[in-house]
Amino acid sequence: MNRKVLVTLAVLVVFLCSMQVAFAAEPSNNHLPNVKILATGGTIAGSGATSTTTVGYTAAVVPVDALINNVPELKKVANVSGEQIAQIASENMTNKVWLKLAKRINELLASDDVDGIVVTHGTDTIEETAYFLNLVVKSEKPVVIVGAMRPPTAMSADGPMNLYNAVVIAGTKEARNKGVLVCLNDAINGAREVTKTNTSLLDTFRAPELGYLGYMQGGKAYFYRESTRKHTTQSEFDITGLTDLPRVDIVYGYANNSRDGLDAFVAHGAKGIVHAGVGDGSLFTEVKQGLIDARKQGVLIVRSSRVGNGILARNGEANDDELDFVASDTLNPQKSRILLMLALTKTHDTKEIQRMFWEY
Ligand code: SIN
Repeated sequence: MNRKVLVTLAVLVVFLCSMQVAFAAEPSNNHLPNVKILATGGTIAGSGATSTTTVGYTAAVVPVDALINNVPELKKVANVSGEQIAQIASENMTNKVWLKLAKRINELLASDDVDGIVVTHGTDTIEETAYFLNLVVKSEKPVVIVGAMRPPTAMSADGPMNLYNAVVIAGTKEARNKGVLVCLNDAINGAREVTKTNTSLLDTFRAPELGYLGYMQGGKAYFYRESTRKHTTQSEFDITGLTDLPRVDIVYGYANNSRDGLDAFVAHGAKGIVHAGVGDGSLFTEVKQGLIDARKQGVLIVRSSRVGNGILARNGEANDDELDFVASDTLNPQKSRILLMLALTKTHDTKEIQRMFWEY
């Protein structure tokens, strides 16, 4: 039997099992929180050819109802229902899916019938979606993004427990007004700082140096810290009328660099460039000239760093005041890109955009 047939059979089995549980589902319980699960795909909805297939599986094939019914324990901690927003591996996440997801979350959270949201998502870009939602969700109610490093067909799949924990957090009053949260492997992270730190280990999501917000233990959320930066209800960004976001690209810094890639982004209509510089955002001479030329054409430039930790010093490795550049503070390049896209929906004023980078 070839791999495709095996994957299809595995999906069918998971789906049929879920239907069986669905028929036995209990009516909603007034004492439990109402949690909506919005599914976008990823490994948590994946399928592998064998129980030992932990790489080389197919992501984003199991539908949301099957994911829910695969964890009957969810119904003991919340009244859960699901919606399929997308069914993609998260490397294919787009601005349009982000906008669709965020608008639906805002719509649902405006209703008294919804107490919290869980988003199931691929782990590769989970940190980007989390930060985007952190800036555009207009509610204090919990929004928890969850994924898995192993597909449901694998031995010791992490998805079911991760989903259970996410639903618990989404129904927890203490999780309100903490910004968008990411929870995998019993660790609760804040959207602004969380990043994927290992290609394949379960213990991959961390907020290096700045730390977790809390832990899950015994089906309960324990919080120890909060993000100090503006998010959700304090955010000035509004996506209500938007159908897309301004194009912003990332230029990577490295030895023996050239400006060719940067020039191509600008020629293709980039409205902003995030430079993932070496060290404290240092610029290769030829690239620096390319950025200066791009700025003269009206392209907004943010200096970030590929290092992964620390404050990007404004006027440190480049004279940002003189060059009219923005410093990214501690935001990594992929999150700087998101903040710059949203900033450009409101202003092209560099000072204003620098203020946003200090505040969010
Ligand atoms: C993805 O990001 O969709 C694939 C990888 C994963 O979810 O772990």
